Amino acid sequence: MNTFRNITLTVISALLMSVCGYSQQLTKEQEAKLNDLISKMTLEEKAGQMTQITIQTISKTQGTKDQKHVLDDAKLEEAISKYHVGSILNVFDVAHDIDYWHEIITKIQTAAKDKTRLKIPVIYGIDAIHGATYTKGATLFPQALGLASTWNTALAKTVGDVTAIEAGASGIYWNFNPVLDLGRQPLWPRLWETYGEDVYLAQQLGGAYIYGSQNNPLVGPGKFMTCLKHYVGYSFPLNGLDRTPAYMSERTLREYSLPPFEAGIKAGSKTVMVNSGEIDGIPGHANHFLLTEVLRGELKFDGFVVSDWEDIKRLYTRDRVADSPKEAVRLAVMAGVDMSMVPTDYSFYECVVELAKEGKLPMWRIDEAVKRILAVKMGMGLFENAFPNKELKKHFATEEHTRQNLEAATESIILLKNKDNTLPLSKKQKVFVTGPTANMLSVLNGGWTITWQGNEEVLYPQEKHTILEAIQTEITKTQVTYAEGISFDKEGKIDDAVKLAKSSDVVILCLGEPAYCETPGNIYDLTLPDAQINYAKKLKAAGKKLVVVLVQGRPRVMNEIAEIADAIMVGFLPGMEGGRAIADLLFGDENPSGKLPVTYPKYPNGITLYDYKPIESADQNGYKPQYEFGFGLSYTTYTYSNLKLSSYEISENGSLTVTVDIKNTGSRKGKEIVQLYLTDLFGSVSRPNKQIKGFDKVELAPGETKTVSFTITKDHLSFIGLENKRITEPGKFKVKVAGLESEFILK
Ligand code: GLC
Repeated sequence: MNTFRNITLTVISALLMSVCGYSQQLTKEQEAKLNDLISKMTLEEKAGQMTQITIQTISKTQGTKDQKHVLDDAKLEEAISKYHVGSILNVFDVAHDIDYWHEIITKIQTAAKDKTRLKIPVIYGIDAIHGATYTKGATLFPQALGLASTWNTALAKTVGDVTAIEAGASGIYWNFNPVLDLGRQPLWPRLWETYGEDVYLAQQLGGAYIYGSQNNPLVGPGKFMTCLKHYVGYSFPLNGLDRTPAYMSERTLREYSLPPFEAGIKAGSKTVMVNSGEIDGIPGHANHFLLTEVLRGELKFDGFVVSDWEDIKRLYTRDRVADSPKEAVRLAVMAGVDMSMVPTDYSFYECVVELAKEGKLPMWRIDEAVKRILAVKMGMGLFENAFPNKELKKHFATEEHTRQNLEAATESIILLKNKDNTLPLSKKQKVFVTGPTANMLSVLNGGWTITWQGNEEVLYPQEKHTILEAIQTEITKTQVTYAEGISFDKEGKIDDAVKLAKSSDVVILCLGEPAYCETPGNIYDLTLPDAQINYAKKLKAAGKKLVVVLVQGRPRVMNEIAEIADAIMVGFLPGMEGGRAIADLLFGDENPSGKLPVTYPKYPNGITLYDYKPIESADQNGYKPQYEFGFGLSYTTYTYSNLKLSSYEISENGSLTVTVDIKNTGSRKGKEIVQLYLTDLFGSVSRPNKQIKGFDKVELAPGETKTVSFTITKDHLSFIGLENKRITEPGKFKVKVAGLESEFILK
């Protein structure tokens, strides 16, 4: 049987619904309490529940690397008592220690309990997207694209689990994660927040992450809430720049963008955050069709929808689809936004009250939004207890969490090239380490780490190892020489570096990207900067083995390096243990097992993706990646055999089982990700040349053979047809596993 059995969505949603009380499963008495509460609320109190402000709005001083954050008690009381604010978010502007978080959350919940008529608890939200990002010392895992590189749903569940414990231990129970946008535009600066370019991979990993987050027994089932973002179609801006127009048909949206959100809803998440961009000229926050007809009518989502940062205001200030701030509020609320991340003033609150009094915003809509919000708060148990749970502190940043983090980081690294088995390196060699990502922690973590941009290196925990420090620890400092050589995009004085290269046995060149987050990470060329390419060439000219380690948030084009390097590893932001993981892999303490969750383009415009269409397969349009989606090498080798189907026909409601044998034919144990692809040979709309429809990670000892099995049902064969509805069509399908093929017919 398989070591890493995927937790299928069916199992997740069934288990989840059985253990967590959510709004649609509020008990009768909870429903009664909810309705009774709403009946007592004033218009102003209702408007307050729909209002979310950032903590900066109630702060006296900003937290910086040199200055402690201070809450402003008077501003807090104003927010809670005068504006009845129901939600607060974020940090201002650097991570706090856990005790200070307890102080902040306790002050906020005490104000809600003691300074308001109805004592409705505040729901505090944070971007804990790769662990408790804003709590000092937290376990910070690989970012989503790195986690996706593991293809390991058990690890995705673990990341959700540990995040719930450590953010929960901080007193924060609402996490603005997972990002279920698809990573299909490699230029996009938020690609690393996604689970990659494939729907099925995103569904499986996102579902497992949600299950782990919302079922942690220490925090309490249902206490910790995820948030599906950014609904929907945000991640595919035509020009690759963040928050710029996306153009896609309803059919494309339903085929690619919606299914991961559908999976997230099935997995039990009860909050959704809206797309900050626009699709076909309609801003996400004004899209009634998607926010109400589809999300509520079709996907049966019954939680609440929160806007993204300041995006209701932007309907007026930026998108100009509203001719006033008040019209922007009316438009967004009537489209289906329940809570506004305003977040730095009370304009939304004021507009809601005015609009309601003017009869321009119906009370039924306000009551609907407030009931959704309060139902989630009730389902999370916040009415019972919204205060920090000091019991959880002993589960914060444990050794076990660090071990799990190292495991995730190790499995997230992808070996892309290993000419003449350059790797693993002998531990006796003299090693020259160089390059802009060799001796920094921020480059391993990226945005949403300690600060929003994640680039305050001085704030990183010094006990964690950079790649250089990890290599020095792996072998000995005397065997390692180091020079940064160049910065990310500026040539440096490299004569000394080249000399050091010449006097070493092997060069480890660490390249890639600095930390960035959202729009500041916009680029206009996917190619690695010339400075990095040229430095690699000069080092290779030194005549030694050249090992390139790429640490980055997106697959930066580097075809010239791919030609000359002897070995290449890539880590898509492997997190705080990334340095150790890379060193363990370079010297063979660990065997690489990561696989690409995105296509690695060979050319700046070569962004044809793995599931390209038949029209793209002709030679002139051919799919010519540097490395394919699903690709990754190991220090051992595997052979596949015995691909078998339980039947060569499958009926509409039937299923068939695919089995395949995989053998470790090398000399060391390894973890292999067995990938099952399906091809629909003919369809009423053009069908992808192949799509991943099953994967499983198996660990094999040298010489060991395992049989992996997959079950195929019609859900794996469906697609969005000409009528924009999900359908299946009878016909022939091809099964592909690692070069083995077979066919079956859907009757
Ligand atoms: C940001 C991001 C969103 C995040 C929110 C709160 O602008 O788009 O992902 O959750 O603001 O920080």
